[in-house]
Amino acid sequence: MSFYCDYMASPPMCEEAIKAYGEAARSFIGNPNGINDLSVQASMEIARLDSRFLCLLGLKGKVKWFGTATEATKSLFDIVSRKDKITFLVSGANHKCVFEALNSISSRKNVQFGILKVDLNGKLVQDNLKALVELETTRGRRCIVSIIHINNELGTLDQIHEIAEIVHLAGGEVHLDASQSLGKLDYRQRASLSKMDFITFSSRKFYGPHAGGTIYNDTISDWHTGTPSLPNISGSVAALQYCSNHFNPSMYEKTSILRRRFLNIVKGHFPKLYVNSIEGVPWCVNIQIPDIRHHVKMDEILVCNDVAFSTGSACTTGLSSVLKACGYARSHIESSCRISFDPISADDRFIIDVAEKFSHSVLEYLNG
Ligand SMILES: Cc1ncc(COP(=O)(O)O)c(C=O)c1O
Repeated sequence: MSFYCDYMASPPMCEEAIKAYGEAARSFIGNPNGINDLSVQASMEIARLDSRFLCLLGLKGKVKWFGTATEATKSLFDIVSRKDKITFLVSGANHKCVFEALNSISSRKNVQFGILKVDLNGKLVQDNLKALVELETTRGRRCIVSIIHINNELGTLDQIHEIAEIVHLAGGEVHLDASQSLGKLDYRQRASLSKMDFITFSSRKFYGPHAGGTIYNDTISDWHTGTPSLPNISGSVAALQYCSNHFNPSMYEKTSILRRRFLNIVKGHFPKLYVNSIEGVPWCVNIQIPDIRHHVKMDEILVCNDVAFSTGSACTTGLSSVLKACGYARSHIESSCRISFDPISADDRFIIDVAEKFSHSVLEYLNG
């Protein structure tokens, strides 16, 4: 595969994270849950890394580490729904892992849930959100609204600050899936994170190791999980620092220019091209090529293309649940795909080559 354009699925680990991972693995051999000297050293190092991690994000609270964001979300939904009567109101544009987490607790008698509508861009429709949350809280139920920050398929950045204000006014709490946004926000967007009650994240999405976690507050106590992986935590902190060093307004500007160039070239080959990701972050381009409709599915083109991209979310198969929730028809979804590039390293030459290669591969396929 000559061109890797699936960065929203998995960017490679940065060198800083690999180094930090290796050094932690060499230096801390004790089990951080134990009580001997080496264990205490390891648990003190985790405490130091946790506060560094939170400090880089400008957040207070605690961090619970897992292997993936999926595990972190499942464990969070499990721990908060053990006792109270609880209702989860979940954005329809959420990643599948949120629905899986809901599924795993849905047979509990105290648990109820509802799916919240999203618009064509995957943004939460906020019209009656306050009333929906109030309905639950006045019935004496705890209500957690689960939303996604940067959508993994469309790249849409939702208005989490406004959503949190509405939910909190109505007595509810907010869970944010920040898997695609952590480390990649400018300072204004980062400020909104402090309004969240629970944040789940995936370190590998910000150039870190395969780890995930939840940032949470004092409403959870006695949350016992397995032994935390110090090398993964150390790699995650180094990766977050790497992002802090690179994600800035000028990088956003540079990436927006690259995105426009990509779209112009592909549009030159496919004048009827439709852009699904209108409001997205610039490194995510989700497009539909109408010429593909009723002919072949994008999936078929994907497997014989020199550009690595994806249809739907890379970790699931089948029709994109996000585009479905946004209201797109089946044929539109089947002729759509996501191309996501590295905002840090991508340059003009790369984008031009990718756009040409991608367009020619699709044309070749369509022309048999
Ligand atoms: C928005 C979002 N949430 C959750 C996940 C799941 O992350 P993990 O693979 O770490 O479970 C992903 C991964 O694609 C994602 O993009």
